[in-house]
Amino acid sequence: MIGLDVRDLVTGYGEMKIVRGVNFTCRVGEITALLGRNGAGKTTTLSAIAGLLPTLGGSISILGAEQTDGASQRIHGGLGLVQEGKRVFRSRSVEENLRLGGFIHRRRRGFISDGIEKAYERFPVLKTKRSDAAGMLSGGQQQMLAIAQALMAEPKVLMLDEPSAGLAPSVVDEVFGEINALKKEGLCVLLVEQLIDNSLAVADHVAVLDRGRITLDCPVNELGDWDVLRESYLGAPVIVEG
Ligand SMILES: Nc1ncnc2c1ncn2[C@@H]1O[C@H](COP(=O)(O)OP(=O)(O)O)[C@@H](O)[C@H]1O
Ligand SMILES: [Mg+2]
Repeated sequence: MIGLDVRDLVTGYGEMKIVRGVNFTCRVGEITALLGRNGAGKTTTLSAIAGLLPTLGGSISILGAEQTDGASQRIHGGLGLVQEGKRVFRSRSVEENLRLGGFIHRRRRGFISDGIEKAYERFPVLKTKRSDAAGMLSGGQQQMLAIAQALMAEPKVLMLDEPSAGLAPSVVDEVFGEINALKKEGLCVLLVEQLIDNSLAVADHVAVLDRGRITLDCPVNELGDWDVLRESYLGAPVIVEG
């Protein structure tokens, strides 16, 4: 089942088109790694999918439904985004951050308190820090909180923008472990990263973005040797047979 389908997407900032006809799909129960160098257009792509930037061409479908409305409708439609840079409300407590993550479902009785309990089961360290200001947490803990906050809305499709950025290597493994667990729980994960090896270790599918275009798109187990991936990083289009 396709969780996220991006067809011929064009987007950018004002007159400046950064993403110029991007195609890829992410399946439910899989991790798709969207790799690419700094400035390739990864965050811009995620912003358009989330409805934070306009779709200037092409289409975006979430769980089979084409998205024409804004960001909050997409959250209701099952989309979650963990933005670049461990974005949490630093002066608010851990628990308040979680509460805010469940905001769109606040009218559903017990939804937020149940979600908070689940978050604490998933990340026990957050429970021990529940009353601390989020800004006091370590980098790794803030990233866990950012993920837990996104999960509060119970997304079916979760996009993560460079979750490993700025983290110590030991914590990076932990974060990738959590992302792998999400896939096993049946989420559709779009993982944007610069760490190639860690990403390919957990991903089922890989797409490479270079200067606003997809230069490689294939299942990880068909990647063969990684020269193909390296070439696509250099910008030459690569077609993988099969
Ligand atoms: N708010 C913005 N306004 C104008 N240009 C931007 C903005 N954000 C990013 N860009 C430009 O878009 C291009 C792609 O950026 P981005 O999507 O952030 O890349 P990546 O996430 O792959 O590192 C870059 O050339 C960057 O300078
Ligand atoms: Mg980025």
